Amino acid sequence: MRAASLIDRYADRLPVSARTPRITLGEGNTPLVRSSWLERETGVREVWLKIEGANPSGSFKDRGMVVAVAKALEDGATAVLCASTGNTAASAAAYAARAGLRCAVVLPAGQVAVGKLSQAMIFGARVVAVRGGFDEALAIVRELGAGPEYTLVNSVNPYRIEGQKTAAFEICETLGDAPDALCIPVGNAGNITAYWRGFVEAAASGLATRRPRMFGFQASGAAPLVHGAPVKEPKTIATAIRIGNPASWSTAIEARDASGGAIQAVTDEEILDAYSSLARCDGVFCEPASAAAVAGLRKRAREGGLERAERIVCVLTGNGLKDPETAQRAAASVNEVDASVGKVREALKR
Ligand code: F0G
Repeated sequence: MRAASLIDRYADRLPVSARTPRITLGEGNTPLVRSSWLERETGVREVWLKIEGANPSGSFKDRGMVVAVAKALEDGATAVLCASTGNTAASAAAYAARAGLRCAVVLPAGQVAVGKLSQAMIFGARVVAVRGGFDEALAIVRELGAGPEYTLVNSVNPYRIEGQKTAAFEICETLGDAPDALCIPVGNAGNITAYWRGFVEAAASGLATRRPRMFGFQASGAAPLVHGAPVKEPKTIATAIRIGNPASWSTAIEARDASGGAIQAVTDEEILDAYSSLARCDGVFCEPASAAAVAGLRKRAREGGLERAERIVCVLTGNGLKDPETAQRAAASVNEVDASVGKVREALKR
């Protein structure tokens, strides 16, 4: 049986020592499943979905957070702090609770999906909503985190990126090699940075024989890396990636260029179509931001931008239950009828 702790599993590839506390909620080791409808539609021989919503707090953030919180604990910290569009907050709050640390999160008011906010609150974080966007929240916590009181656990904390790179190792282990291309949503750009590092290290250590092309996707109303300039008022239905000035800007560009990849925009309409299609055709419920990866894959397939890629992995970063309101808006409504067989039979035919 595999050890449940991500830190134990990859101790030789992470900046941890025997002294680093082995905290865990069973993160990582997420499913990698094939998608036959996407294979048919795109003409790509193998399309795989990495279901990161299966992590303990429901997103990929747990991989990096377990390492960042363990290192904070090792260094004697008593409190962690982050800005977040929601998932980082949920993850930080969960691991802080697990580790017995205090947690403070700063969120953009009115822009965080209800599931994520509920998580941060029930895990006992101190939650502050600012009248502004994620970029402003991040600037604030960077300043607060510079003092002795808090350890900052946004992806500007190097341990976050280190932990998140383990997803690339898992993909190589499962497939027996790296894929030809990786499709991934991009917000603050930490995850594309982390995957690229993971694939580079996998190739260097013999875990893989090649490195994938990195295809990153931003929402068209929040696509600073595509335009090459920060976006003042980013807008998208995919609130997780509603970010106008990504912290890991330069390393995302490096991943794109060194891999021969691309960073491209997809519209909210394309995101929602991919979101519903994944649910109906694959039984996979991801959040809207995650669906940007699949919207992007479909777009590149239509535009002939996949070249000879035969095996592609799409990273589905977060669980659909995080944002039930978007799901309810995207799906058919529920019929309410009297409690009789006849009325129910009739309603089912409608
Ligand atoms: N997908 C989901 C579900 C996310 O929550 C995020 C980022 C991303 C993709 C983009 O990843 O920022 O590394 O490029 N969420 C952050 C948060 C910003 O605060 O939870 P990235």
